[in-house]
Amino acid sequence: MSIMIAHIVAAAKNGVIGRDGQLPWSIPEDMKWFRERTRGRALIMGRKTFEAVEHPLPNRLNVVITRQKDYRPKPSDSPNAPVHVVQTIEEAIEYCKARAAQYQNEIFIIGGGEIYHQSVPYVDTIYLTRVHRDYLGDAFYPDPDPNEFRLVEKIDRHDPVPFSFETWIRRDAKNKNGDSDREPPDEIA
Ligand SMILES: NC(=O)c1ccc[n+]([C@@H]2O[C@H](COP(=O)([O-])OP(=O)(O)OC[C@H]3O[C@@H](n4cnc5c(N)ncnc54)[C@H](OP(=O)(O)O)[C@@H]3O)[C@@H](O)[C@H]2O)c1
Repeated sequence: MSIMIAHIVAAAKNGVIGRDGQLPWSIPEDMKWFRERTRGRALIMGRKTFEAVEHPLPNRLNVVITRQKDYRPKPSDSPNAPVHVVQTIEEAIEYCKARAAQYQNEIFIIGGGEIYHQSVPYVDTIYLTRVHRDYLGDAFYPDPDPNEFRLVEKIDRHDPVPFSFETWIRRDAKNKNGDSDREPPDEIA
């Protein structure tokens, strides 16, 4: 089974994704999109994002990355929201890959800023909700490098603020992770 790895992220025009541990906006349609896209999947997140969410996400595998050797997740896991703690991004990816039969073949990296920045080289797809305004913040997402990723879908929305659902795929995705069956969609911009 070929495994794909994706970022799923909402970022402002100026790259801001968070402020004081929280999202700077409330966009119900984006929350719904996140819930639906990630249901039943394996999620990888930094320790700060895990703590900001305040509870493990149900019906998903929650893999938390920390450098702390004795980190005890609080709250801990439950049968429908298992939590597993690892100490490197690579370990997180391997752990999820080994569970693809249960959690499907697309692994989602859900933030935050530190983990997104470090994991760009591993991702095949970026599901980027681009909020078309600048916000103040202290966590950031890098603009997808057009030399590395192509924009294949963009759906504009206007409520409660102007934003777009963008899908970017790695230009060499066909060869990455042995996924030779997938024909990349055409670039739209
Ligand atoms: N807009 C969005 O889509 C979105 C999505 C997710 C999060 N966010 C926002 O992003 C912010 C949080 O992002 P953040 O950058 O502050 O934190 P983060 O990436 O969630 O977590 C950072 C923590 O991860 C661990 N870590 C980072 N790199 C590591 C490595 N190479 N090896 C092992 N552990 C590593 C460290 O934990 P220890 O300190 O325990 O060692 C570090 O403190 C919040 O404001 C949140 O609301 C936004």
